Amino acid sequence: MASYDLVIIGSGPAGYVCAIRAAQLGMKVAVVEKRATYGGTCLNVGCIPSKALLYASEMFEEAGHGLEKLGVKVNTPKLDLKAMMAHKDGTVKSNVDGVAYLFKKNKIDGIQGTGKIVAPGKVEVTPESGDAQTLEAKSIVIATGSDSTRLPGIEIDEKKVVTSTGALELTKVPAKLIVVGAGVIGLELGSVWARLGSEVTVVEFLDRILPGMDGEVAKQFQRLLQKQGFTFKLGSKVTGVDTSGKTSKVTVEPAKGGDAETLDADVVLVAIGRVPYTEGLGLKEVGVELDERGRVKTDAHYKTSVDGIYAIGDVIVGPMLAHKGEEEGVALAELLAGQAGHVNYDAIPGVVYTSPEVASVGKTEEELKEAGVEYAVGKFPFTANGRARAMNKTDGFVKILADKTTDRVLGAHIVGPVAGELIAELTVLIEFGGSSEDLARVCHAHPTLSEAVKEAALGVDKRSLHI
Ligand code: FAD
Ligand code: NAI
Repeated sequence: MASYDLVIIGSGPAGYVCAIRAAQLGMKVAVVEKRATYGGTCLNVGCIPSKALLYASEMFEEAGHGLEKLGVKVNTPKLDLKAMMAHKDGTVKSNVDGVAYLFKKNKIDGIQGTGKIVAPGKVEVTPESGDAQTLEAKSIVIATGSDSTRLPGIEIDEKKVVTSTGALELTKVPAKLIVVGAGVIGLELGSVWARLGSEVTVVEFLDRILPGMDGEVAKQFQRLLQKQGFTFKLGSKVTGVDTSGKTSKVTVEPAKGGDAETLDADVVLVAIGRVPYTEGLGLKEVGVELDERGRVKTDAHYKTSVDGIYAIGDVIVGPMLAHKGEEEGVALAELLAGQAGHVNYDAIPGVVYTSPEVASVGKTEEELKEAGVEYAVGKFPFTANGRARAMNKTDGFVKILADKTTDRVLGAHIVGPVAGELIAELTVLIEFGGSSEDLARVCHAHPTLSEAVKEAALGVDKRSLHI
């Protein structure tokens, strides 16, 4: 029987990063993966392919509508969807191959097959074909990730009614796309297809988009998406999809009850969240407890209810984000090596990769109000930023929330160009416990978009210079 210090089930960002860090620290590591390629949801059907399509479709949109305003005349661009999908597939391939290379480099054994914990210290691996084998492990890590939440009574065929996976593979631009759920997936993939020509209607249960994000940011962002052609049906739910005809008939009802209406759709994207994936792992038999939402329960050091079994990533509590899982992977490997691994959950950025992007770190205004924390707000619009004007990308603003008494920055929210990159310095600031004054006194290159961040920091003390 092959014997390891660490056997990790799942090769997503949480699992593969944990494996690399553990190998760096001298452990003998195996990673069990049931997919044909490494990298999990993120690299195969999540972060990476969606960003490839978001970038390519944004370029298509720019060529069609953005360049002329800069004095660059081009003929009406033509979409080659096959080539765009090939770009996406190539991007996925180079990333998943990259993980295979990193496994080799770090002498990590990648083992293809479905893993099941048959006893503490024992993982049975059943490959697609051939015999099962059992691996012996001092520690086992569950990093099996998550799966799309299904809508009761609505069947997913990944053609007419799709999850994000099907929405990344459409062979034709749907004339009418109905998105169920105004969360991150719905707005990102809705943006891809809207840019390529779909008429997009988003049906959202709540009376706002992007729940959990700062309310003011979400409102502004909704306005901008509407300008891009999105239609929102907030406070509404989809109760049925009839796919028997040429186009599907989608029944939409007010969330609070009332008259239903029927909408036509060529494709329906169900994006109402993700659920932890623990199927077939043998957790019940071995005594690993789940919480009320089906997530693997762990203590602060990622240990489950069974000694020697740990869990990280989407399958445990916390935001379902790749970088959160990666940080947990590193922290757990270090803890297992006797070091002081730690994740600061107050400094995990979240980014929506639309145009403009939305990025956020730390607390929202709503959270601070609810916690009764007194705070000051500094805000700066991109309309007053020289670089944004030069790029003709002036939609949006930076908002910084700081403790009223100590000036410590508690949250930052950006809607605007490359917000996902701009949020990094605010994440560093929060990680270091910095104040808005600290940031306001740092020299920022001119002319850059990051000056809007500095100006928002100055704004906390009402001394922005350029507004
Ligand atoms: P996963 O990546 O889900 O990996 C788990 C792996 O475990 C899978 O490969 C699965 O096959 C394997 N597995 C499961 N059970 C077994 C078993 N019994 N035996 C063997 N293998 C098993 N996050 C971001 O931070 N940024 C983004 O831009 C972003 N975009 C996204 C876009 C989409 C369309 C989707 C769906 C998600 C996106 N996410 C994004 C979320 C991100 O993909 C997840 O947070 C991340 O992949 C979680 O990592 P993980 O390692 O916990 O699990
Ligand atoms: P989400 O949780 O972001 O959004 C789901 C939305 O659906 C919510 O607004 C919710 O109110 C709504 N909803 C729930 N039930 C509904 C119903 N019956 N009818 C109508 N609306 C309903 O989930 P989403 O977008 O599916 O994404 C899943 C996860 O993937 C997220 O947690 C996110 O963290 C991650 N992800 C991250 C990305 C990024 O970081 N850029 C990109 C894509 C996904």
